[in-house]
Amino acid sequence: MSVKSRRSLLFASGALLAVAAVAVPVVVGTAAADPGAAGSGNQARIVGGNQASLADHPYAVYLTDAGGNQFCGAVIVSSTSVATAAHCAKAVAKQDIRVVAGREDKRTSEGQVLGVSKVWVGQGYTDPTQGADVAVLTVRGQFDYRPAKLPDSGDAGLYAKGTQATVLGWGRIADGGARSDYLRSGEVPVVSDSECHSAYTVYDQKTMVCAGYAEGGVDACQGDSGGPLVVGDTLIGIVSFGDGCAKAGKPGVYTRVSTYAKDIEAQAKPRLLG
Ligand code: ARG
Repeated sequence: MSVKSRRSLLFASGALLAVAAVAVPVVVGTAAADPGAAGSGNQARIVGGNQASLADHPYAVYLTDAGGNQFCGAVIVSSTSVATAAHCAKAVAKQDIRVVAGREDKRTSEGQVLGVSKVWVGQGYTDPTQGADVAVLTVRGQFDYRPAKLPDSGDAGLYAKGTQATVLGWGRIADGGARSDYLRSGEVPVVSDSECHSAYTVYDQKTMVCAGYAEGGVDACQGDSGGPLVVGDTLIGIVSFGDGCAKAGKPGVYTRVSTYAKDIEAQAKPRLLG
């Protein structure tokens, strides 16, 4: 049996655009609440957010159907696979899912579009509110972009209340609003288990983690599902569900990646087909 040689990752730095100078709203940019009002001195960025750059987050990708319509986010976890939400993986037939990497602006044809050869869904998944909202898609071909890191046993502290994390996606800019053409990012603090349990009775601290401000204002939204919540380059969450978007007292709920890191790793290993 021969071992497939690992292809080195190409960093398509030349293809990655510099960040546009104009700041645009976040993943969700409802201007109603101001989570930075307590004095970060940086409110405009937190509330209004930023257009994000793939140069900073090359592992951020999105999923489209066969017609090219973006329906979810995902995150590269190896040269041949992405992690996403189970509810995303189940929304479109495997043969119709496309993974788009290296494309900040949906209206361009930059980067790569790869089909999917295999879908793994978290064991016991039924519905996002029941946990296990995680899936790994094995792509046909290889990514030219580097993967996010998965958390290991030393990363438990990243789940502590108050850890500032970054959520990325091409989803709605406001609850019920239009989807973004550009990749956007929002900075959100991890919420304690007790606080999240008060917000959502279905909250399960083994399989979920919450992030957001008590006042709301920054959050993921529809179309961001499956996308990454990262601390640095470490993937701590996958956008799963919420009550509306960016509402006070209703943080975003994410799949707790540390619980599924071993499963994701096992699925993400490049392997010989046939
Ligand atoms: N379920 C949504 C989706 O499929 C994601 C919702 C996330 N909502 C939130 N408020 N964080 O895109």
